[in-house]
Amino acid sequence: METNIARVAQRSYGRGLNFMQETSLMAANATPFVIAHARVATMDGAQGASGIIEDGAVAIADGRILWVGASADLPADYQQWPREHEEGRLLTPALIDCHTHIVHGGDRAREFAMRLEGASYEGIARAGGGIISTVKATRAMDDDVLLAVSLPRIDALLAEGVGTIEIKSGYGLTVADEIKMLRVARHVADIRPVHIRTTWLAAHALPPEYAGEADRYIDDVCIAGLREAHALGLVDAVDAFCENIGFTRDQTQRVFEAAHALGLPVKLHAEQLSDMDGAALVAQFDGLSADHLEYLSDSGIKAMAAQGTVAVLLPGAFYTLRETKLPPIDKLRAAGVPIAVSTDNNPGTSPLSSLILTMNMASTLFRLTPDEVLAGVTVHAAKALGMADNGRIALGMRADLCLWDVDDSAAIAYQLGQNRLCKRYFNGQDLGHI
Ligand code: NIG
Ligand code: FE
Repeated sequence: METNIARVAQRSYGRGLNFMQETSLMAANATPFVIAHARVATMDGAQGASGIIEDGAVAIADGRILWVGASADLPADYQQWPREHEEGRLLTPALIDCHTHIVHGGDRAREFAMRLEGASYEGIARAGGGIISTVKATRAMDDDVLLAVSLPRIDALLAEGVGTIEIKSGYGLTVADEIKMLRVARHVADIRPVHIRTTWLAAHALPPEYAGEADRYIDDVCIAGLREAHALGLVDAVDAFCENIGFTRDQTQRVFEAAHALGLPVKLHAEQLSDMDGAALVAQFDGLSADHLEYLSDSGIKAMAAQGTVAVLLPGAFYTLRETKLPPIDKLRAAGVPIAVSTDNNPGTSPLSSLILTMNMASTLFRLTPDEVLAGVTVHAAKALGMADNGRIALGMRADLCLWDVDDSAAIAYQLGQNRLCKRYFNGQDLGHI
């Protein structure tokens, strides 16, 4: 087992070093340039519409978008800049995976097999498996090994054009181990061309040493640890698992109050397995997003719509758990709630390291249109992370872009197992052909 981990570490670090050389250009390269004759999906249309510019151009300098419009209208100032002619390929913002647990140790292949034989996710969790088994594996790893085992999953996302990943803690469940997870998550951005947003999710499961003392765990680890992690500058947002196998609404509210006192935004695993009225709670705290939402009620939708809380849909978990209750998508749409889509990468309910496959699942399982799905992994995912300068191709936005060898945005995720990405740009740097 240990040899195995060492081997993975070796392999990932090898790749890491190569990648680092390739992307030493991550430090801003001042050469401005123009991408011309692309079909530009600005994602700047009304309500997340793709806002396509046929034969469009984008001028980029210092990692930002300086101009976007029709190629024929390119201002004289940018005419002399180096120009990439893209022959009508589709240019989109880089993809954003706005809900992951991608830094974790171990796997849960055995539980996958048990579930196939009829065991339920909740039953396995109550018997001490589930999240807690991943906690044991994650606690046992130091920073280097935890990073090494997480990188292959992260690299799989990057190869599909992901430029921003949200990463949660939640498999440490001690102050030190939760902080370790976020420290490792942040370090990913030092060695890969990706923006990382970290989320404090100590209220993910009750560790055995606090059995019967959930309130004390909330105080000692979730709240005290949050203050410590925040003081270290490691927290962008705060999340909780509000569920009958997770934490109560009152406990969640206490964590949210502590987050607000620190000026941190909140989000929530809400209404995944039952209706706990969590979506309304997160909306009440002006939260960024409510995630999962299969059991979301009409009043929850109303509260989210009123506050502009993003609905993050996670079809990988729906699929893995063989859930049959769909999130109330028509009602979310009708209420004008912005919808994001994410992998929920985790070893239990969504061992899924492909955002493109997730996009396909969001269409096939949830009947989202290709335009809704593209908005779900760009503009609405940025909103779910509170990032105002990400997820759109517009003046002043980060120049994180993807060029796809497709005529139609529906073709990005239509063929299972195909990756139509042909070029990525990160912080205004051309990372080259895939
Ligand atoms: O997003 N719902 C809670 N958390 C994860 C599952 C974590 C696990 O099973 O390890 C989720 O589905
Ligand atoms: Fe999750």
